[in-house]
Amino acid sequence: MPYKTSVRLDQLPAWRALLEHRDEIAAQHMRDWFAGAGANARVDNFSLHAAGLYLDYSKNRITDKTRTLLTHLARECHVPAKRDAMWAGEHVNVTENRAALHIALRAPKGVTFRDTTGEVSSGVGETLARMRDFSERVRDGRWVGATGKRIKHLINVGIGGSDLGPRMVCDALAVYGREDLSANFIANIDPTELARTLPALDPEATLVVVCSKTFTTLETMTNARTIRAWLIESGIPEKDLDKHFVAVSTNVDEAMGFGILRENVFQFGEWVGGRYSLWSSVGLIVMLYLGAQHFEALLAGAHAMDEHFRHAPLEANMPVLLGLLGIWYRNFFDAQTLSIAPYTDALQKLPPYLQQLDMESNGKSVQIDGSPVAWQTAPIIWGEPGTNGQHAYFQMLHQGTTLVPVDFIAVLEPQYDQPAYLDHHRKLLANCFAQSEALLQGGSMATPEQAGGPLGAQRCFEGNRPSNTLVIDKLTPERLGALIALYEHKVFVQAAIWNINPFDQWGVELGKTLCRAIEPELLDPDSLKPDAHDASTASLIRIAGNALKKKG
Ligand code: F6P
Repeated sequence: MPYKTSVRLDQLPAWRALLEHRDEIAAQHMRDWFAGAGANARVDNFSLHAAGLYLDYSKNRITDKTRTLLTHLARECHVPAKRDAMWAGEHVNVTENRAALHIALRAPKGVTFRDTTGEVSSGVGETLARMRDFSERVRDGRWVGATGKRIKHLINVGIGGSDLGPRMVCDALAVYGREDLSANFIANIDPTELARTLPALDPEATLVVVCSKTFTTLETMTNARTIRAWLIESGIPEKDLDKHFVAVSTNVDEAMGFGILRENVFQFGEWVGGRYSLWSSVGLIVMLYLGAQHFEALLAGAHAMDEHFRHAPLEANMPVLLGLLGIWYRNFFDAQTLSIAPYTDALQKLPPYLQQLDMESNGKSVQIDGSPVAWQTAPIIWGEPGTNGQHAYFQMLHQGTTLVPVDFIAVLEPQYDQPAYLDHHRKLLANCFAQSEALLQGGSMATPEQAGGPLGAQRCFEGNRPSNTLVIDKLTPERLGALIALYEHKVFVQAAIWNINPFDQWGVELGKTLCRAIEPELLDPDSLKPDAHDASTASLIRIAGNALKKKG
């Protein structure tokens, strides 16, 4: 298995050929590739459908040769073999000695996945059945709070992968949510979200999902304890708290230690990474809020993308192509970032979700075997929904000095189907397409009098700036599932090429350890040992510790 060794990616024949090819086309302008009779053929050539999504990637600085060389690179880096290893349940997460089988969570009944210890699919099916049963009881009023009130408010307490996915999906698909249920999310250790959320909720009608793979995460446990105190202060007897708390975790003992009944713990496998866990019981709040049918449609959409990723040839494989285009700009054009521009507010939480997915997965500088990489890895992911972004930072995308590839996401059908909104939606789509066209074409907005003068230069757009456009017919649970799985697999493809492990996250550990030391020091800043920290950190601890002391 070519999986555990170090590679010299930059010595591979395809890499070297891509470098040469980059120099060949660096001076060419995409607009010339769109001129003349071949333009429609270019769009046909560089677009594809998969799992209900349409990707137009013709507005990229690529030719047929680029795609051929990039797919050669994918083969030389064993992308298909690595994908098959993940599918086979091999321990591709080598540093944690675990499989990465989130694909098993969305496979239909009857499809069996195994890891090295045995089959995992029956456990997945059992948990899904328990989630379905539980969410139906909550939704139809058979599950009530301690005082007999029907549940009206849901709170998911979790952070990172135990928050971003469910939060994003509940927000994106709120039109499918029950009107008599509110889905609330508490993530940050900063109490602002708590302070703003709790007063609006009826404690007797509130169900809390404590969602944490480890059940030891500082933020989640602190928030869960504060909410428990709020419930008790509101009159819920301690002995009845089990009517208001359930847990999602791999750590049943810790959850029970918190006071949650064993039968109210929804487990998932260790082989589900935090940022890939939406499809597991981590999606419980999604199922509670949207209903089992919609959660299962989300899974089905993701599975459709899985099937495409697994079977389509590399040249016509959407996650592979998106991944390769990312490699093209990151490694051959030195692009440091990728901007995500969903043209719908419903996807406003997609960029932060993708930040964790991409940057926590691929923000690595050592290869699988621990040797250093000699190439750039994860780009910085950022973005905002259009058209808001246009009035904030698009100036830089059009005229800045840094190349920023953009993923535009357009949804054809408005989510709120009212005649008055159709006009908004037409304008929204017009803006989306205008932006990618402007980035591609460039041009001059100078009047004849301005041309050649300073104002003419200010009003000039060089164009030749790449983008992808993903088109979704309607933002349904199924399409959203496919979209998320598309990005998951894209990240996997890039990790396979960079020869890094996308499934661990050691980089978050150091800060957590240092925080454990600093927290007690803030209580007594005057007795800080002189060499405990660097001078800057010590000074900050003293300033904050003394300010906190005044608060008592
Ligand atoms: O700190 C990073 C991280 O470990 C993420 O990878 C994870 O999604 C998040 O914290 C939450 O972890 P847990 O689900 O164990 O609370």
